[in-house]
Amino acid sequence: MSSSHQTWLERAESAMNRAYVPYSKFQVGAVIETVSGQVFSGCNVENASYPEGTCAEAGAISAMVMGGEHRIRQIYVMGRGKELVTPCGGCRQRIREFSDEHTQIHICAPEGVRKSLLLNELLPFSFGPDNLK
Ligand code: THU
Repeated sequence: MSSSHQTWLERAESAMNRAYVPYSKFQVGAVIETVSGQVFSGCNVENASYPEGTCAEAGAISAMVMGGEHRIRQIYVMGRGKELVTPCGGCRQRIREFSDEHTQIHICAPEGVRKSLLLNELLPFSFGPDNLK
């Protein structure tokens, strides 16, 4: 594992361990580094009305916006399980809003980064703020 990822993995794991997931039991954590170097975390938060739960990425983005930041340099998303824990469709769009062509999405498990993708690989031909002009 690249040592440059280590601190980020620890932060993502801490976020993951805060997940409130009594229904799915599937913990996810997300950590954002903004272009200016600030750090924001989120976890998934479920509730008894199952579809109203929120994803870890959405929590981290909300924290980022509350922190006055709007530009994601990289985001680490961590979950357990055999398959990659890739951001859901809705979260791809949420990440896209605050991304540029260099933004990296690191798909992780506690053992390390499993795959790193650019936003454009995760959400090609995306609709963003410029499309509204
Ligand atoms: N989930 C996330 O928080 N992020 C993802 O990237 C994938 C899925 C959450 C939603 C739900 O609480 C649980 O994982 C199972 O779908």
